[in-house]
Amino acid sequence: MKTILMAALAAGSMAMSAPAFAQEDYPSRPITILVPAAAGGPSDTVARLVAEAMRADLGQQVLIENAGGAGGSLGSGRVAAAEPDGYTLLLYHIGVSTFEALYPDLAYKPAEAFDSVGLVTEVPMTVVGRKDLPPEDMKGLLEYLKGEGAGATFGTAGVGAVSDLCGRLLVEATGVQLTVVPYKGTGPAMTDLVGGQIDLMCDQTTNTVNQIKGDEIKPYAVTTKERIPVLLDVPTISESGVKDFEITAWHAIWAPKGTPEPIRQKLSAALQKALTSQTVIERFASLGTVPVPAELATPAALDKRFQSEIERWGKLLAAN
Ligand code: MLT
Repeated sequence: MKTILMAALAAGSMAMSAPAFAQEDYPSRPITILVPAAAGGPSDTVARLVAEAMRADLGQQVLIENAGGAGGSLGSGRVAAAEPDGYTLLLYHIGVSTFEALYPDLAYKPAEAFDSVGLVTEVPMTVVGRKDLPPEDMKGLLEYLKGEGAGATFGTAGVGAVSDLCGRLLVEATGVQLTVVPYKGTGPAMTDLVGGQIDLMCDQTTNTVNQIKGDEIKPYAVTTKERIPVLLDVPTISESGVKDFEITAWHAIWAPKGTPEPIRQKLSAALQKALTSQTVIERFASLGTVPVPAELATPAALDKRFQSEIERWGKLLAAN
């Protein structure tokens, strides 16, 4: 009886997290990073750049899998339920810190379901309109949305997505009326904005800079306190009269809860190296963002940021 029990216990702990010998030769097969938003969108763009740069240091392929929907809470749930062995990771953003407040019946608690690997980048956002939307500037847009344009269609990636959070803050700060149109990501929403099927979005520069520079959409404002180098002629929302308005899409990598510390440290080291690669630095800059400094691409720094954001958004969303 005792030997059967010992064997069962051993098997149990084997299943729980990667046994010591597996940690030593980690990674011994390709790693998958799940992005809970549609391919071709801003989070996907960040993930593919970082994954390609991490591959060199890890000596294994780092594959991207997209699973959009419900603001990213569905795909994030798949990582929460995955084996904590370092082979399934989540790359997403600020949205994860709002899921508990916005989805009370969620099958997992983000604060308890993930272990941190590190922060990646903090992407500014832009308020953009379809090319032929009448207002020429942010002031005009706010008046328009309180008048003949009230109820204008506003594309988001679903409840809890950062494109949704930006919309919520804008409505809260200005009292404008928007008609939210959810997509599986802002990649497909951008296609409809360029096509004139929707009126407005608030989206990350990683998904808007090229369309703005290509004169396919109309930029109204950036959501950072200061103007950003790649869009210097686009004013901040604060400059347009909405004082102290700020939201950025901080992105990070998480692992399922129980993923061994040594594996997460190895991933963090590869992430830090990737964020210093010339390709990543240049591509990020051309898309309006920068990698975080190495000390933020760590489990400890993400733990701290994630906890503070869960508290901040918990209060903000409870008040709305
Ligand atoms: C995306 O990649 O589609 C975005 O990050 C979604 C969002 O707006 O949060």
